[in-house]
Amino acid sequence: MTPDSIRQAYRNAGQDQVFHFFDQLAPAAQETLLRQAAAIDLTEIDHLVNTLVRASGGSSVDVAGVEPAPYIPLPRAGGDAAQWAAAKAAGEEALRAGRVAAFTVAGGQGTRLGFDGPKGTFPVTPVTKKTLFQVFAEKILAASRRYGKPIPWFIMTSDINHEATVAFFEAHNFFGIEPGLIQFFSQGLMPAVTFDGKILLAAPDQIALSPDGHGGSLRALVRNGCTAKMASMGIDIVSYFQVDNPLVHCIDPAFIGFHLLAGSELTSKTCMKAYAGEKVGVFVQRGGKAEVLEYSDLPADLTNATDSDGKIRFRAGSIAIHIFSRELVERMGAAEDPALRLPFHLAKKKIPTVDANGQPVEPTEPNGIKFEMFVFDALPFAKDPVIVETAREDEFSPVKNAEGNDSPKTCREDQLRQWARWALAAGQSIPVDATGLPAFSFEISPLFADSPEAFAARAAEADLREGSVLQG
Ligand code: UTP
Repeated sequence: MTPDSIRQAYRNAGQDQVFHFFDQLAPAAQETLLRQAAAIDLTEIDHLVNTLVRASGGSSVDVAGVEPAPYIPLPRAGGDAAQWAAAKAAGEEALRAGRVAAFTVAGGQGTRLGFDGPKGTFPVTPVTKKTLFQVFAEKILAASRRYGKPIPWFIMTSDINHEATVAFFEAHNFFGIEPGLIQFFSQGLMPAVTFDGKILLAAPDQIALSPDGHGGSLRALVRNGCTAKMASMGIDIVSYFQVDNPLVHCIDPAFIGFHLLAGSELTSKTCMKAYAGEKVGVFVQRGGKAEVLEYSDLPADLTNATDSDGKIRFRAGSIAIHIFSRELVERMGAAEDPALRLPFHLAKKKIPTVDANGQPVEPTEPNGIKFEMFVFDALPFAKDPVIVETAREDEFSPVKNAEGNDSPKTCREDQLRQWARWALAAGQSIPVDATGLPAFSFEISPLFADSPEAFAARAAEADLREGSVLQG
């Protein structure tokens, strides 16, 4: 596209304000703006403005016919132990056959944590302050050693943190993983718009762009050639997790096995809500299709409803851990028809912009809209989806906020509680308080043990005391 044709397209779309300062810009700045403008799909924006922005009169999500989605309970919660054992065996076979890749979405901006750098470079462990990326790397390495096959790792960044992420891995020698097994790629960006649907500028030569949500991962995997690479490597199982949760079992054979045995295209983990009003999405179904409903879309009567046994009725919380079949990613990530792709959601935000003179404006109230896709919206598109229970204390303690809930402190303590449980189960004596928190800090690398069973097998080597670090 030529500069003129780009500008003409913006005029035709009623978005000419993007070029308001163009004639005053230096040539390099003009080029930047043109490059950003050319990368935006104006038809998509127009469609979103017409369908979402203009329709966003506060109408609530229709919940007619919504029922709790069925899930496979843990053996200790009434699940069938033999079925779990069969699933584990099936998953192990797939791992030994080299069919599995790990996939981390790390393109978010991490505004709530307020950490200066990619979130994956945030230090999380109690003693050596290993970063989130290192914890995942060690878990992936441990699994690949156990199953005797390399496990490729796909890491989605965004333009905002891509270079810093790659540089971090290089500086740490890829944490011992063969560099060719790690593929970094950037997700797409979406422009923010005003409440009238006009694309906002972040500066006279910059469109206000932000990552297109974790759901952008499906099309980013396709556009960046990752699914093609997976196919060439014989990989058809994609183990998806977020960058903020160091407790996640990056590679979980039983979870993989449930996916395979059901012939599922998307298998998701759930943990039970801690209390009815907990702010997590829940797995529901309607018309035979499973989906995740955001907590804000579940009306109070449904949120607080209980079963005849007194349990929270809509209790299956979504914790952003999934197994995708490669085929589903290929199909949805490449779909041309918006009806076959992930839908966009809008969020009203305070978006830094410029005034009519090009001077920066830091809004104190929401002044515009960002568009994001959510990966769990793939559920209704997936063949034979499965939902599998996991225990929160074993698998979910994200670092979201600087303080309070889901903060570095709660995450550090949850890691310690988990390791203390392993040690106690293996017959060691560790002083813990009523919440299971040990009286001293120590650390167990996934390369030493990544499960209670693996710990029990090496418990004789483990002398746990203040500051102990069990590594490798
Ligand atoms: P969050 O919803 O917690 O968002 O992302 P965030 O951007 O990390 O943090 P806040 O809301 O600004 O504080 C959940 C996961 O999805 C990834 C994040 O990196 C994290 O792993 N994500 C989110 C993306 O990869 N891309 C996005 O566009 C958004």
